[in-house]
Amino acid sequence: MKSTKARAHPNIALVKYWGKRDSERILPYQSNFSLTLAPLEVTTTVELGAGATSVELNGKEAVGQERARVVALVEAVGREAGRALGPVRVVSRGNFPMAAGLASSAAGFAALARATRAAAGLPDDVRATSRLARTGSGSASRSVQGGFCTWHRGSRPDGEDSFATQDFTEAHWPELRLLACVVSSLVKDVSSRDGMQSTVETSPYYPAWVKDAEAEVPRAREAVRKRDLASLGALAERNAWRMHATALAADPPLCYLRPATLAVLLELPRARAKGCPVFFTLDAGPNPVLLTTLEHVARVEALAREAGASDVVRCAPGGDACLLPEPLF
Ligand code: DP6
Repeated sequence: MKSTKARAHPNIALVKYWGKRDSERILPYQSNFSLTLAPLEVTTTVELGAGATSVELNGKEAVGQERARVVALVEAVGREAGRALGPVRVVSRGNFPMAAGLASSAAGFAALARATRAAAGLPDDVRATSRLARTGSGSASRSVQGGFCTWHRGSRPDGEDSFATQDFTEAHWPELRLLACVVSSLVKDVSSRDGMQSTVETSPYYPAWVKDAEAEVPRAREAVRKRDLASLGALAERNAWRMHATALAADPPLCYLRPATLAVLLELPRARAKGCPVFFTLDAGPNPVLLTTLEHVARVEALAREAGASDVVRCAPGGDACLLPEPLF
């Protein structure tokens, strides 16, 4: 029996992915851009030739859609390898609480893709791994490599040209810091998957979102190249507002913000006016992620806690998904 273990970090989008042109293959309407985050990580072990297929995520047996997505990814690797991989045992564990508001699915599917391809004897190929991770969860395509990555929308119906590539490694901007602020740990009513689908179908602003977000990606890359936090921060904030504005205009409306979210966000212009460089981004949930630099981390954490954050997780640019020597079991 052969088991293979891989580790990947989650990522936070600075230009968001919001909406699929193909829901089955997970192909986005627009390109998007993210930063991989350490020290948060998910470790996934894949054992081929197990007695029966089982999928364990954070100590719990996965069922339904969650399990089906994992099994489908393993089957896709089997097709590429030219042989059925048979019953497979998957065990995946994250080192960060769900309450941090950062989805563990991106890191989980990136680690699963890396481990399963290696277990099947396929060559190490970051594009193929990113494409594969994408089929589990779109944002997972961006967790295969570290640093700053663009997930290219592509134009082919089969999705072969829709994968993430690395623009800058984690070493490019070592003093950049991200603080994940927990203002609400309640499970959100509408998942990203359902929320983006409903936005595509019912928001009159959706076409404008697609056009704008696509154009922001090269600008985000340029701001990172220059390590220009004021430009990157302004861009990340307006892109998050525009994603939420598009979702608010869906029918029924999708409001992921909570009063406590705004309490944190409204403090930021005040902090900037006092010379503290801090900006936010916000996924499809209530918990903001704040961008700043190493020098200002303590001040930004204090600001977030005073504004009502119950927990703050400090993150820095993270590295590539990689294979680990020791199996989990
Ligand atoms: C708001 O990648 O979780 O976090 O492809 O349906 O699994 P699926 O969605 P997912 O959506 C992420 C949406 C987002 C923005 C982003 O990460 O780009």
